Amino acid sequence: MKKKILILGIETSCDETSVSIIQDNGKKTPKILANVISSQIKVHKKFGGVVPELAARSHLEKIEIITKKALKKSKVKLKDLDAISATAGPGLIVCLSVGFNFAKALSMALKKPLIAVNHLEGHALSPMFENKINFPYLLLLISGGHTQFLVVRGLGKYKRIGTTIDDALGEAFDKTAKMLGFGFPGGPEIEKYSKKGNPDKFDLPKPIINKGGCNFSFAGLKTAVLRYKNFIKTKKDKYDLAASFQATVLKIIYKKTKVAISEFKKVSKGRSLIVAGGVAANKQIRNIIKKVCYEENFKIYFPKNELCTDNAAMIAIAGLKKFKQKKFNNLNFSVKPRWPLDNKAKFLKGSGVKL
Ligand SMILES: Nc1ncnc2c1ncn2[C@@H]1O[C@H](COP(=O)(O)OP(=O)(O)OP(=O)(O)O)[C@@H](O)[C@H]1O
Ligand SMILES: [Mg+2]
Repeated sequence: MKKKILILGIETSCDETSVSIIQDNGKKTPKILANVISSQIKVHKKFGGVVPELAARSHLEKIEIITKKALKKSKVKLKDLDAISATAGPGLIVCLSVGFNFAKALSMALKKPLIAVNHLEGHALSPMFENKINFPYLLLLISGGHTQFLVVRGLGKYKRIGTTIDDALGEAFDKTAKMLGFGFPGGPEIEKYSKKGNPDKFDLPKPIINKGGCNFSFAGLKTAVLRYKNFIKTKKDKYDLAASFQATVLKIIYKKTKVAISEFKKVSKGRSLIVAGGVAANKQIRNIIKKVCYEENFKIYFPKNELCTDNAAMIAIAGLKKFKQKKFNNLNFSVKPRWPLDNKAKFLKGSGVKL
């Protein structure tokens, strides 16, 4: 294998069009040469959530321009790339199709390998630009669509030990922010306004905190916010409710991370926790998880802030790792709107779930 490896990554699973080029020089960690992200926040803001058709149209308009920008920024020529990687799932099918079909076309035209990347694996590997992290490790994935604890034994080797039985944590942040009349996406807004509020003002529920192992539930918390919302009168009340919501999330995360670590210790000798996904950008959440890791003598790794939410650099690093193992895909590979990291894990959503 030649010394320098250049990988192009494409991400279009939801509302971010992103293209990245990374380089592996045989050093401890790969280098990001370009990571161009075009966010569609403005397109979806007035709807308070992502509209799939509008998202797909915007990806179509942007994908070529963003690719050209990434090539220019990295000073890399298409012919010098070693492989084309792109998110192939999970995500919105119309959005995934834009990026993945574009990757197929590039792969065919350039005669370079095509690598289908699981978006969640991209999140999981995102701290590896700063740190060389050895398997096995415990992963906490907290994003807009997922909230899971996974035992990671290697590339593609995931065992889920905990998940949400209803809303994802990012979704709970977004819906709470919407109820309180804050902007979109809601997570950063809640974090911002919480600083102005009293976290002890409202007593909110912590569903399944003492049962269900390291599974999560956030639906009841969200409903409680809705109930209290009817009583708030001033701006200060709103900030207090935002702060109380975030403080309750911190208590849930603290307890469930403790449980997950103790379960992980039973099955693995690893002593590291990786936290990834958009919600991992939250400073308070980072601090509470650092506290748990300090108490449990675990090493903790987070991605850089800008690599927490969706970006193509994380797709390219997953592509790089698969490239090294020669895990290539054929042009007939289809995108997968549902693509769990642990495909043996039981579906744990909806009423009637027994914990
Ligand atoms: N500072 C923050 N505090 C809390 N939540 C945040 C923060 N920054 C971003 N988020 C949340 O992160 C989520 C977006 O993360 P991400 O881009 O990883 O999710 P996604 O790609 O939509 O979902 P998935 O990766 O599960 O498919 C949103 O719900 C957003 O509100
Ligand atoms: Mg994501």
